[in-house]
Amino acid sequence: MPANLISKTDMKALAAKAAGLDQPGGDPRVKEVVNRLLYRLMQVIDELDVSMDEFWAGVGYLGEAAKANELGLVVPGIALEHFLDLRLDEAERLAGLDGGTARTIEGPLYISDAPLCKHEARLDDGTDDGEILFMEGQVFDTKGRPVPGAIVDVWHANSFGFYSFFGPPQSPYNLRRRIETDAEGRYRFRSIMPSGYGCPPGSNTEKLLAMMGRHGQRPAHIHFFVTADGYRQLTTQINIDGDKYLHDDFAFGTRDDLIPPVERVTNAAEIHKAGLNKPFARIEFDFKMTREQAGAPSTIVRREHAVAA
Ligand SMILES: [Fe+2]
Repeated sequence: MPANLISKTDMKALAAKAAGLDQPGGDPRVKEVVNRLLYRLMQVIDELDVSMDEFWAGVGYLGEAAKANELGLVVPGIALEHFLDLRLDEAERLAGLDGGTARTIEGPLYISDAPLCKHEARLDDGTDDGEILFMEGQVFDTKGRPVPGAIVDVWHANSFGFYSFFGPPQSPYNLRRRIETDAEGRYRFRSIMPSGYGCPPGSNTEKLLAMMGRHGQRPAHIHFFVTADGYRQLTTQINIDGDKYLHDDFAFGTRDDLIPPVERVTNAAEIHKAGLNKPFARIEFDFKMTREQAGAPSTIVRREHAVAA
């Protein structure tokens, strides 16, 4: 069939009718969103002369991805989660909010209610022989004042690139903790250096990326939610410097302000002082939180999370 087969006016009218714009009931917001999505989808189908087989392949793909609970991975893979971050950045800028730590995507692998620890924690269960990592820092407000009692909720992959509760079995909440900052806003944890990881082989996400000629790899990173009374929730990650995919993240999560240096400690006295018998890595990273402000768009995202089994 030729492209541009029907008039824009006919498409507009059909999309509006299908979205119930001529009906009094329903949810006006949902109706308008559906109306515009439908119209744009019809436009793409018409302009590109999408065949019926291609159309139903697309529907089938979404169904398969949903059945496999992969939409939370497809969304960052096609840059939409990063796009939402960019919009929130701009909305905050327009609201006069700045100076906080850069946000970046949450991803689909958060589990709530990790064990809560005061001031410091050990995240790993001792079964991973990867490089030992100490990470520490302070939580500040944008004026440089420490924020005591903030909760640093941290989660990351093991040295093979797998998260507890997902993939090969690990102990519950391995590499996941919530750490409450001390009177100076300090947090500190011992863990294992995470590895980067890729979309599961054979997954729907990987299939889609392959069709676009893209890889599905993420550089090594550590996720954080940082919360404190009176402050805007911060959702972010740090990247591990030196990773091959540092600036080629399939999920578009890397941001320049979120790549702290990694110090490799090889000095025998320091290793001994840390109570270890092999070299380790150290990262320092401070978080800056912005105060909650009436009227500013919320940074708390209500979305479906996996639950601990
Ligand atoms: Fe991750």
